[in-house]
Amino acid sequence: MNILVIGGTKFLGRFVVQEALSRGHQVTLLNRGNYNEIFAETSVEMLIGDRNSDLEILQGRTWDAVVDTCAFLPEQVTKLTKLLQGKTKHYTFISSISVYQDWVPEGIDESYDTPTLSAEKLQEVMNDSTVSLPGPYYGPFKRMCEVEAERHLPGQVLSIRAGLLVGPYDYTDRLTYWVRRVHQGGSVLTPENPHQKVQFIDARDVARWILHAMEYQVTGIYNATGPEYPLTFEQLLETCQRVTKSDAAWVWTSERFLLDQKVAPWTDLPLWLPEKYPLEEGGEPWRGGGSVNCKKAFAAGLSCRPLEDTLRDLWQWDQDRNEASLKAGLSTEREQEILRILKEV
Ligand SMILES: NC(=O)c1ccc[n+]([C@@H]2O[C@H](COP(=O)([O-])OP(=O)(O)OC[C@H]3O[C@@H](n4cnc5c(N)ncnc54)[C@H](OP(=O)(O)O)[C@@H]3O)[C@@H](O)[C@H]2O)c1
Repeated sequence: MNILVIGGTKFLGRFVVQEALSRGHQVTLLNRGNYNEIFAETSVEMLIGDRNSDLEILQGRTWDAVVDTCAFLPEQVTKLTKLLQGKTKHYTFISSISVYQDWVPEGIDESYDTPTLSAEKLQEVMNDSTVSLPGPYYGPFKRMCEVEAERHLPGQVLSIRAGLLVGPYDYTDRLTYWVRRVHQGGSVLTPENPHQKVQFIDARDVARWILHAMEYQVTGIYNATGPEYPLTFEQLLETCQRVTKSDAAWVWTSERFLLDQKVAPWTDLPLWLPEKYPLEEGGEPWRGGGSVNCKKAFAAGLSCRPLEDTLRDLWQWDQDRNEASLKAGLSTEREQEILRILKEV
């Protein structure tokens, strides 16, 4: 197949390209050229341009399938999918489980509510120079991108509502925090409750499924996160411990204490969603954040590699890159400070 990837060089996209090459497909990339050295020695065709202003570079070309990894605004998808009418048979849009109005119920499937913006509100937001977009509109915009894609390429669109993407080259460092922290050993500050369910998916598994989906013309909207069985925070940490051969000991700490210490859910202690999240905003707690229903995708060919493999590869990559600080998680000093205060109370 002849495949166009919009993006394709940082994280998920690089695996889509690698998977496509390993299956013998011809790949063309469109991006601004910030990271293209990774495919310099390959058969990949590089088109350098900004999708917001340089789409004419695609004029007169046809592709069997297109993968769009980097659309965050509806108009980006509108412009691209209009141009692709009659020029491709399959279009994969990388969406997100953030499209849902909340994560209150357990087992959210693809039919759960997905808010969007009215045309007037969209115009107002697009004209507001004080907001860095997509910002707070990330979820609604992703949903509107899905709608735009289906409008212009009806019956040809695969929208993947991905959960947290993890694995080597994850530039957000969220799961990496736990692998690195557990490897360091000693007393590890961990959030109550050990039985909280967590979900994430190896970007390489999503990439493999994207290639399968385009080869078999799979279309529609799919939640895509993992693993295929319920995984608790405690089981995740224990697996990190086995993989990194660590002597770490968990210090399960009450949510109230962590919040009083201004430990931010999801970012300071990645993957942690307090039982009553979002506390300040009231309403019902988001208990379903770790149990999104992905049965539809698993039935359509998505599969997850063993957790150990993801953690081992992530750990190896993190060691190889030799990065001093991470973009997510508590600093060592801050964690030690909180553990010290905890001992005193
Ligand atoms: N990380 C998560 O946990 C998570 C969860 C759910 C969904 N998602 C979604 O997954 C996708 C993540 O993709 P990724 O970063 O892994 O993809 P990627 O394809 O590996 O990297 C992003 C690519 O987009 C290109 N790009 C960015 N802006 C561009 C522009 N204006 N014109 C042309 N190319 C542009 C970048 O290259 P240049 O800079 O060279 O242009 C880069 O190649 C996103 O859509 C995100 O919303 C992520």
